[in-house]
Amino acid sequence: MHRAETAAFLNHKGGVGKTTSVANTGAGLTLLGKRVLLVDLDPQSHLTGFLGIGQEEIGATIYDVLRGRAQLREAIVTRPLKARLYIDGRDSQLSMSLVPSSIELSEAEMTLAGTPMREYLLRRALSGVAGDYDYILLDCPPSLGLISVNALAASRKVFIPIQTEHLALQSLESLMEKIESVMAELNQDLVIGGLIATRYDGRKNLSRTVVEALRERFGVLLLDTMIRENIVLAESPRHGMDIFSYRPRSYGMEDYLNLSLEIMGRIAAANTLFSVERGVIRSNDGTGESDLSGRAGGGTGDGNSIVDDDSAIPV
Ligand SMILES: Nc1ncnc2c1ncn2[C@@H]1O[C@H](COP(=O)(O)OP(=O)(O)OP(=O)(O)O)[C@@H](O)[C@H]1O
Ligand SMILES: [Mg+2]
Repeated sequence: MHRAETAAFLNHKGGVGKTTSVANTGAGLTLLGKRVLLVDLDPQSHLTGFLGIGQEEIGATIYDVLRGRAQLREAIVTRPLKARLYIDGRDSQLSMSLVPSSIELSEAEMTLAGTPMREYLLRRALSGVAGDYDYILLDCPPSLGLISVNALAASRKVFIPIQTEHLALQSLESLMEKIESVMAELNQDLVIGGLIATRYDGRKNLSRTVVEALRERFGVLLLDTMIRENIVLAESPRHGMDIFSYRPRSYGMEDYLNLSLEIMGRIAAANTLFSVERGVIRSNDGTGESDLSGRAGGGTGDGNSIVDDDSAIPV
C-alpha cells in the first residue's frame, strides 16, 4: 500500500529557516504534482500563520491530536495555493494541507510526560492518513524535547536547516547525538536526509567559510541546493503565502524549487531496492550484495559518516 514519506525539519537552534523551508518545500512539492501534508509542531505556530490560516478556521490542533482529544484527520485544514500549474494549456488548482498548532502545545512536555509510549504519539496519529499523501513534512520547534523526539520517531528522514552564519556548527554535535539516540532506541528506519544551508550570501566570506566547513565535515550529507538570503522569503509569511505564490520570479522561488527536486531525489534514492555503503551495493531485501569497487570486503569509508560505522547512511 502507498504510504507517505515523512520528513522532519529539525534544528534546535532557533531562526535557521526550518519553518520557511517546510512551507516552501511543501509548496514546491505540491507544484511538482505531489500530495503534501504539513504539520506545525511548534507552539509559536509560525507555520500555521505562514499559510495565512486564521484561528477561526482551526477546529482541532496538533495538541488535541497528541492528547487523544481529536483524530488527526479532523485537525487538517486545506488551503488552495495561489500559484497555479498549467498543464497542456489547462489550469489546475492545487492545494496544500496543514495540521495547525497553538500555544497550548507548549504544555505538552508536562501533560504528555506520563502517557504510555509518549514518543510514538505522532507516529500513531499520522499512520491513519499516510495513505492519503505523498509527503508529510514536520516543522519542529527549536528544542530537542518530547515534541521533536515524536517528530523523529515518526519520520523516515530528517533534514537539518543550518544558517550560514557565525557559530552555525556549534550546536550540531548535540543535535547529531540526539538523532543517533533516536535512531538507536526508537526508530531504526530513520536516516539523515541531508543538511540544508540557508540564508547563504555568496558575497560574505563568512557564508562561504561556513559552507566549506559543512562540506568538509559532512560531505555528501550537505545538499547541493543552498537557500540564498532573499528578502522576499522573509516578506511572504506576512502575506500568508508561500514563495511560489508570492514572488514566483525570485531567487527564493528558484532555490526552493531546486530544494524540492533535490529532496524528492534524495528520498527516492534512499528508498531504492539497493543501498550503497562504503563501496558495497547491498540489496535491501537481503538477497545479496556486490562490491562496487571490485575490492574484496568493500571500501574503507570516506570519512563522511556521522553515525556509527555499523549504521548505513543511504546516499
Ligand atoms: N533565505 C532567507 N532569506 C531571508 N530571510 C529568511 C530566509 N530564510 C528565513 N528567513 C527569515 O528568517 C527568520 C527565521 O526563519 P524561520 O522562521 O524559517 O526559522 P525557524 O528555524 O523556523 O525559526 P524557529 O526556530 O523560531 O522556529 C524569519 O523571519 C524568516 O522570514
Ligand atoms: Mg519555526
